[in-house]
Amino acid sequence: MKNLMDKIISLCKRRGFIFPSSEIYGGMANTWDYGPLGVELKNNIKQMWWKKFVQDRDDVVGIDSALIMNPEVWKVSGHLGAGFADLLVECKGCHARFKADEMGYEMVQVENASSKSFKRPANIKCPNCGSGDFTDPDFFNLMFKTFVGPKGEEENNIAYLRPETAQGIFINFKNILDTTHKKIPFGIAQIGKAFRNEITPGNFIFRTREFEQMEIEYFVKEENWKKYFDEWLNEMRDWINLLGLKKENIIEHDVEKKELAHYSKKTIDVEYNFPFGRKELYGLAYRTDFDLKNHKLLYKNLSTEEEFIPHVIEPSLGVDRSVLATLCEHYHEEKAPTADGKQEIRTVLQFPYWLSPIKVAILPLSKKEKLSKTAKQIFNDLKKEFICEYDETQSIGKRYRRQDEIGTPLCVTVDFDTLKDRAVTIRNRDSMKQERIKIKDLKSIIKKKLDEKY
Ligand code: GAP
Repeated sequence: MKNLMDKIISLCKRRGFIFPSSEIYGGMANTWDYGPLGVELKNNIKQMWWKKFVQDRDDVVGIDSALIMNPEVWKVSGHLGAGFADLLVECKGCHARFKADEMGYEMVQVENASSKSFKRPANIKCPNCGSGDFTDPDFFNLMFKTFVGPKGEEENNIAYLRPETAQGIFINFKNILDTTHKKIPFGIAQIGKAFRNEITPGNFIFRTREFEQMEIEYFVKEENWKKYFDEWLNEMRDWINLLGLKKENIIEHDVEKKELAHYSKKTIDVEYNFPFGRKELYGLAYRTDFDLKNHKLLYKNLSTEEEFIPHVIEPSLGVDRSVLATLCEHYHEEKAPTADGKQEIRTVLQFPYWLSPIKVAILPLSKKEKLSKTAKQIFNDLKKEFICEYDETQSIGKRYRRQDEIGTPLCVTVDFDTLKDRAVTIRNRDSMKQERIKIKDLKSIIKKKLDEKY
């Protein structure tokens, strides 16, 4: 669809899904705030992931670790080294910085991460000022630095905001073993914020400097890594299906050796056809024993006394990228009749029902007290079970369009006949079909309908 990203960004702002951050102070580039509907959508994704991968399984437990950890963690994990840095060049004319590979620099030799040498492109020009004079490529670490405690900016107070949730899991490996007595294979899951000083953030919430991850570190015996890698790839496929992302929009990309993260022996990037191109949605990595070995952590089988370092399969999912992919996938525009028999274009977020921020809208036909009293009673009753919205502003047609645009599966309309027949009209988002239903049956019928397009 033409201009799909512009349409989504505009809908998100207009309806309260996602706002540009710090807007009243002129904004903050590439920083976004989730509004009332955005936070519900994001929570639906996080809760469903937690239910599917933690609560419904007996081999995965959850944790919630600190964002700021002992900086030793990042030394040991390799994130403070060249493995978690981008190579940048600086324009000597305007001092703007760019990723070396994106400017056409070619890596000619890699012995270890710190001895990369690059071939300068013949005709390099600064996109900002046109200068052709650049510094040699240099490493730029992506972690955000901060200082902990009242002494302020001293070398020994330096700490980092975590760039992945994974390390919070690894450093708790022993605690989890000691308290849960889990046997291999088992996993530890975490949802939380991660921070990276990205060089090229952009494409709305696709790449930001502050984002949320849903990660599992699944611990296995080395000889079984392939079996569990394949199992987790299937689990990720199931999850993508649950989000309603069409198969033809998904590409599983086996990452080339030279592109692998410093900890990975094999990675499959699960890519999605975003409107701005095919880009990474999630990643599945075989992290070997890299992290546990570096943190000097062991697993002991209590019945056999056997001790070894487990290997790790890591399905890593971005929350914000899940939000963006579902918005792109389920945004639809179609012709629909207006109340006076004309045609208009209606926008519908055709989310699977579990994703919809609001499940049922209760709409009295008029603001007259007689109607609103009954409508409010229905609202108060339904909201005990479903996430509901009460709306009595504007014409009924406009209210339906608003609910379509935010993906609400069902609208319940209370009209003057309701006062006589104790029945309401229930309207389906996708078919726009309406049915008359007795108030006493409403709850059970809504429940049944919501389960239909789970
Ligand atoms: N622990 C492994 C890890 O962090 P990653 O491929 O760097 O691997 C995993 O990140 C996922 O986190 C990505 O597939 C993506 O969904 C999300 N992600 C990473 N960087 C992001 C960013 N700057 N903005 C939004 N999401 C991001």
